[in-house]
Amino acid sequence: MKLFSSVKDINDLKQLVNEALELKKDPYGFQNLGKNKTLGLVFLNPSLRTRLSTQKAALNLGMNVMVMNMDKDGWALETRDGVVMNGTTVEHIREAAAVMGEYCDILGLRSFPKLEDRTEDYSENLFRKFVKFCGVPVVSLESATLHPLQSLADLITIQEQKQTVKPKVVLSWAPHVKSLPQAVPNSFSEWMCRAQQEGLVDFVITHPEGYELAEEFTAGASITYNQEEALENADFIYVKNWSSYREYGKILSEGEGWMIDNKKLESSNNAQIMHCLPVRRDLELSSEILDGPNSLVIKEAGNRVWAAQVVLKKMLEKL
Ligand code: CP
Repeated sequence: MKLFSSVKDINDLKQLVNEALELKKDPYGFQNLGKNKTLGLVFLNPSLRTRLSTQKAALNLGMNVMVMNMDKDGWALETRDGVVMNGTTVEHIREAAAVMGEYCDILGLRSFPKLEDRTEDYSENLFRKFVKFCGVPVVSLESATLHPLQSLADLITIQEQKQTVKPKVVLSWAPHVKSLPQAVPNSFSEWMCRAQQEGLVDFVITHPEGYELAEEFTAGASITYNQEEALENADFIYVKNWSSYREYGKILSEGEGWMIDNKKLESSNNAQIMHCLPVRRDLELSSEILDGPNSLVIKEAGNRVWAAQVVLKKMLEKL
């Protein structure tokens, strides 16, 4: 594997998940694979889970790891071509990415959208240029529109924890006070639609009117504005806020009544609750859920290691 940026980069989904679960049983079985190989993790935005789980995964495989906090410690990056750099940007992505490719065998990049210009964000201009100019395999650590390491960890968690052959999985929009990207729900939807095609899950999305995700990521999902109906017989409920795609980057409603609490689980199949974290307690998700027996959020975060490790393993095998 030379690129991990979307579920489209995966040929065999079930095999990937099974291999990740095998790594979980034997984390250090491939310590020689990464010997004398270097992973560079480049962050243009904050991170806790992605930063630590990907480092841990690389260390389990025997790799060296370097972390670059580009937002704080790097030069201000120019991503446009054909501009005279007489403003605030200091280094062009053409040189910055190429230089990092000289130091690393595999690179990871996190770059959030600005949520100002939908066409610009959805073009994935920065991520695509980084891939093009660095010249080594690249793992997305969350791009403007997708977060594939999170979604792979989510699928691993569902496969690991499911009580029925084909669980009902519901993505439920949650309230928030800040305008958040669509990357996590786009990506979760993309992975669940593929899992549904392969007979692994039944997938439903519920959100208030105006929060429709881009259709390119939701083909095959059942979509409803009626949260109560969506939660009936749910086995897994994936809670996440996102800002509007249609009225790009806007918060359209305060989302009163959309927060999941124990009462909302009554019609579900004793649903297990997922969230990518970080989560705002008693705004996005109730404390009673987060502190209760139905919460999967910590196990889900733990599985980020095996998602990253299986992806790095696939890349190391092709170096
Ligand atoms: N879920 C997730 O990607 O967490 P971080 O932003 O802390 O990496």
